[in-house]
Amino acid sequence: MHGRMRVCAKSIWGAEMLLSVENLSQRYGTAKVLNDIAFGVEQGACCALLGRNGAGKTTLLRTIMGLLPSPDGAIVFDGADITRAAPHIRARRGIGYVPQGRDIFSDLSVGQNIDIVMAANKVADRQAAKSEVIALFPVLGEMWHRRGGDLSGGQQQQLAIARALAMRPKLLLLDEPTEGVQPSIVQTIEDVIRSLRGHLSILLVEQYYDFASSLADNYVVLDRGHVVEQGRRDQMNAQKIGKFLTV
Ligand SMILES: Nc1ncnc2c1ncn2[C@@H]1O[C@H](COP(=O)(O)OP(=O)(O)OP(=O)(O)O)[C@@H](O)[C@H]1O
Ligand SMILES: [Mg+2]
Repeated sequence: MHGRMRVCAKSIWGAEMLLSVENLSQRYGTAKVLNDIAFGVEQGACCALLGRNGAGKTTLLRTIMGLLPSPDGAIVFDGADITRAAPHIRARRGIGYVPQGRDIFSDLSVGQNIDIVMAANKVADRQAAKSEVIALFPVLGEMWHRRGGDLSGGQQQQLAIARALAMRPKLLLLDEPTEGVQPSIVQTIEDVIRSLRGHLSILLVEQYYDFASSLADNYVVLDRGHVVEQGRRDQMNAQKIGKFLTV
């Protein structure tokens, strides 16, 4: 095995890659769930990761975040091979993760949910983070002292995104941010993702074509652990991709 420290810094169309996933395979026990996955996320771009239930989307995000055993293949982030790095090292290097189902602390207040990821930062930074959070998601300002568990699904999703952004990531991994969220909040989340585009890179897991296609600069489709389609926004086609989404 060769150690590969700097690989694949550019995409096939010449843009700088922030994340490159190369020949990645992952298993749960003896069940192989990801097979030879290869794709990249460009600097400042939003990449949509599509596929139906059980396709392997969450497994791929958890593997990128280092939350599962080391995979075969390579994960290169910001010029460094992080395939075997611990999750907190990946977070410190600039990968933010909003897990499926949100996973906020129900017993802590909204403010404490944000503060807990900022524990090592100076108070001034914490106040700046609070102002930024409220500017992005005004409802979190109104709910600042309420328990996380008292928030609606959509508000919890906003909190989970705000908490990840407070770490100032270079890459945000978003796992089905619209799942179980009422339509009015879906629009808020879409607006926030749109406003983040260009400032940081986003890998957006979605099952809904319309949401993904309105935000994505490029896309990857997974089916049963294989990449079956990928391309740029202008190559996205509802018919071609729809057959790999939930019927
Ligand atoms: N902890 C686990 N142990 C064993 N198998 C698992 C585990 N988690 C997921 N799987 C299996 O791995 C496959 C991929 O699951 P994964 O959760 O990555 O899919 P997904 O694309 O995120 O689906 P969904 O859209 O429903 O969230 C599925 O067959 C699933 O049953
Ligand atoms: Mg999932």
